[in-house]
Amino acid sequence: MAEIDSSTKVLGLIGDPVSGSLSPRLQNRAIDRLGLDYRYFAFPVKEGRVNEAVIGAKELGLKGLNVTVPHKKTVVEYTDNLSRAARVMGAINTITFAEEGEIEGDNTDWKGFLKSLELHEFDPEGKRCLVFGAGGAASGVVYGLVRRGARRIVIVNRTESKGVDLARKMEGLSLGVDLDVRPLTGSDIGKRIERSDLVVNATSVGMGATEGEAVWEDGDGFHSGQLVYDLIYNPSPTKFLKLADDGGADTIDGLDMLILQGLESLKKWTGEEFESGEKVDELRRYLRDSGGLN
Ligand code: ATR
Repeated sequence: MAEIDSSTKVLGLIGDPVSGSLSPRLQNRAIDRLGLDYRYFAFPVKEGRVNEAVIGAKELGLKGLNVTVPHKKTVVEYTDNLSRAARVMGAINTITFAEEGEIEGDNTDWKGFLKSLELHEFDPEGKRCLVFGAGGAASGVVYGLVRRGARRIVIVNRTESKGVDLARKMEGLSLGVDLDVRPLTGSDIGKRIERSDLVVNATSVGMGATEGEAVWEDGDGFHSGQLVYDLIYNPSPTKFLKLADDGGADTIDGLDMLILQGLESLKKWTGEEFESGEKVDELRRYLRDSGGLN
């Protein structure tokens, strides 16, 4: 890694907490592999102090910041420009401090999601998709699927009204996609899974306090020829993916999306691309082998 000196550029993550984040290990490894003179740090920032943190980072000459919980939405009001994705989702995960002094807000989750599908040779165009969840993670997934021309997206959420809100956000983008919202208790979920080419878990069920549980416990509808994706990467595989695997589906966990959305941010800040599947494999192995992940 290049030695730190007065020309080293600084990147970082703001959130609360940030202590368990994989981003510093991921970004510094990628920076090292690309031979860049940057370093990436985690900065804990309390709720209510985001404006000070962003202005301070700008004044100190940072090149960019990732933004995580709980600031993804609130930080929107402290930016000068928003990308279309960030505007539609109402959430930012990447801030870039432009040369001209402007603070730009973007959301790279959807690009990371689409790139991870690409790595697995799945093209959403014309496909029937079902997404569990309607929170921040789900909005990146749904936005990506809409942008890439999915034919149908069924949003299944415990709180149906949040699913409706998410579907509404996509209105106006709508490129002919058929968007439908169902409650988790709907009697037709198994059938709808069966008719889907891609099924995504974008809820938090399966990690933390709900480790060992699945958002779709009865596992109905999974079958071969279908791709089932869980955004959770720790633990891996989740019960959701085990049920999908039992049904014969192909499965992906959330680590690729985490890596690829991070690399999209790094590309925005440095202009450098970390493209090939092989290099992403190396990053995945590094994160799995260097502790902190099961
Ligand atoms: P994130 O930013 O990770 O998406 P979030 O915005 O809090 O986090 O969203 C969490 C998602 O997981 C939501 O879709 C939530 O459903 P609700 O909208 O009904 O809250 C879903 N979720 C969390 N715990 C759940 C549970 N025990 N059963 C079903 N869905 C759950």
